[in-house]
Amino acid sequence: MITVKNFTETDLEFKELARIDNLVNHDSINHPDDDKNDWKIRDKSLIRDRLLLYNNDILIGVLYYSQGRDENKRTCFYTLHLDPAYNNNGYRKLLYNKMLGRVKFFNCNQLHTTIYDHPNYIQHEKLLNKEKFNLVQTNREYSCDIRKIDFTKYKNLINNLESKGIKFLDSKNEMLDLPNHYQKLEELCWVYGQDIPMPKGIKREREPFDKFLKNQANYEKNYYAVEIIAVKNNKYLASTDLEYYPKAEPYKAWTGSLGVIKKFRRMGIATALKIIAFQKLIEKGIYEVRTDNEINNPMYKINESLGFKPVPFSLDYLKEI
Ligand SMILES: CC(C)(COP(=O)(O)OP(=O)(O)OC[C@H]1O[C@@H](n2cnc3c(N)ncnc32)[C@H](O)[C@@H]1OP(=O)(O)O)[C@@H](O)C(=O)NCCC(=O)NCCS
Repeated sequence: MITVKNFTETDLEFKELARIDNLVNHDSINHPDDDKNDWKIRDKSLIRDRLLLYNNDILIGVLYYSQGRDENKRTCFYTLHLDPAYNNNGYRKLLYNKMLGRVKFFNCNQLHTTIYDHPNYIQHEKLLNKEKFNLVQTNREYSCDIRKIDFTKYKNLINNLESKGIKFLDSKNEMLDLPNHYQKLEELCWVYGQDIPMPKGIKREREPFDKFLKNQANYEKNYYAVEIIAVKNNKYLASTDLEYYPKAEPYKAWTGSLGVIKKFRRMGIATALKIIAFQKLIEKGIYEVRTDNEINNPMYKINESLGFKPVPFSLDYLKEI
């Protein structure tokens, strides 16, 4: 018998959810402990939940959904994963319809989801087309074996920037004692973040500072691959952060954000940040880096020149309801 059940936060559910996710994931591995940790530190002021689809007592699918913040507070962000052995039975639609009932609680007026241009997502894409979702952003996705980069090529660039008084520092290991470090870091990311393209219909969210600190502490404790900040005369100019999942894929890091404040662009700072970060990753035994950017963002030129290779695009879909 097919049933949809509520999520009750048991260890078995976390384990089974990771199993279902990994049947769909095409280039990442989920570990139940990471999901459990993420769930524990979630922002409880926003509605966030899961719908679990069972065939008798076997989990066969899940729909994760969450409410956006501030201007996105009426947007529902969701991810739908189904064991492919159960394709073509209308089970995605079943979970989707159930979600439509639930999101009324926050007066939801639009739905957002992300899929990849990869065979594992074709069935979900069919549902999105049937439900008349719009494609609102296409993102290049890239992977790089950073052991293949010729780091010596970038020595002059880094020396040149350092000779102009720009220092490249490791946030967690070299900066925690600097005055107002986290305030300056949060402000920097917010400022350059406004120039990162967003899917049409979605606004950039700024977390309250206490939430930023909580997430930063979690990142530094559990997922810190490296975070490099460019500083000149105590002013924070640019940064990049990469995280990794030691329990799931200890050799692979994912780029979080990267940006440079406007006045300091086109000097090679973004390139230098990446090179310095990657050298630190290699020291930690991490040799693959995944990153993405909106299709037209000039960031792709930097990635390609460093040797990043394209992997399936990600696609943002939105529907007003
Ligand atoms: C994208 C961004 C990080 C680039 O930073 P940067 O320090 O100016 O980049 P670099 O100086 O290292 O650029 C290296 C090369 O990339 C290309 N490039 C960078 N910015 C470009 C732009 N705006 N237009 C065209 N090409 C550009 C050029 O080929 C450049 O080499 P060149 O200056 O010799 O022509 C910066 O514009 C930024 O912070 N944007 C807002 C945040 C953002 O979009 N981040 C990326 C999110 S994925």
